[in-house]
Amino acid sequence: MIDKELAEIKEMVKLLVTNERLTHVEGTAKFAKTLALIHNLDQNIAEFMAYAHDIFRDVIYEKLVKIARIYSIEISTHDQANPVLLHGKVAAEFIKRRFNINDDDILTGIAFHTSGFKNFGVYGKVLFLADSLEETRTYPNVEELRELAYKDIDIAYFEVLRNKIIYALSRDLLILPESVDSWNSIIVKRKGGVL
Ligand SMILES: [Fe+2]
Ligand SMILES: [Fe+2]
Repeated sequence: MIDKELAEIKEMVKLLVTNERLTHVEGTAKFAKTLALIHNLDQNIAEFMAYAHDIFRDVIYEKLVKIARIYSIEISTHDQANPVLLHGKVAAEFIKRRFNINDDDILTGIAFHTSGFKNFGVYGKVLFLADSLEETRTYPNVEELRELAYKDIDIAYFEVLRNKIIYALSRDLLILPESVDSWNSIIVKRKGGVL
């Protein structure tokens, strides 16, 4: 990841998101860089992904759906009912085209940063964690989850995913199919395929 791409995405996000969102994005970038440093990963990649992940989060829904169509992104029934769900996939396709990035870890990380994804690479997990654990997030066990992320990315990913699913269940919210798939695939791996 070169500095030019990082500088460009930073400028772009400032033009496209609200001030409140920008604070979240900057917090995500800070946390992602910290995780990258601790776990010996490329800080520029982690930072780039953080700046890219919510770039379309504040675009009005009609436009988001339009861009998704232009990009030939498959629009599920969930996406149709909740177009905001498309913001990750649209961002991934945008950075693929704009920066000619074809790395699956980066692209799936951005595309599925809300739901989680069963085939996430390490950078996808870092973004997922940073998005949920950055400094402006406040919920009861957030500090414990941050500590866990400093120690072990895989275990922290599993626990943050658990947290999101519990949150959705407790508030009658949609549980995204990618979250369920990711959860099940970890459970199957842990139990050697025997449930
Ligand atoms: Fe997001
Ligand atoms: Fe986010």
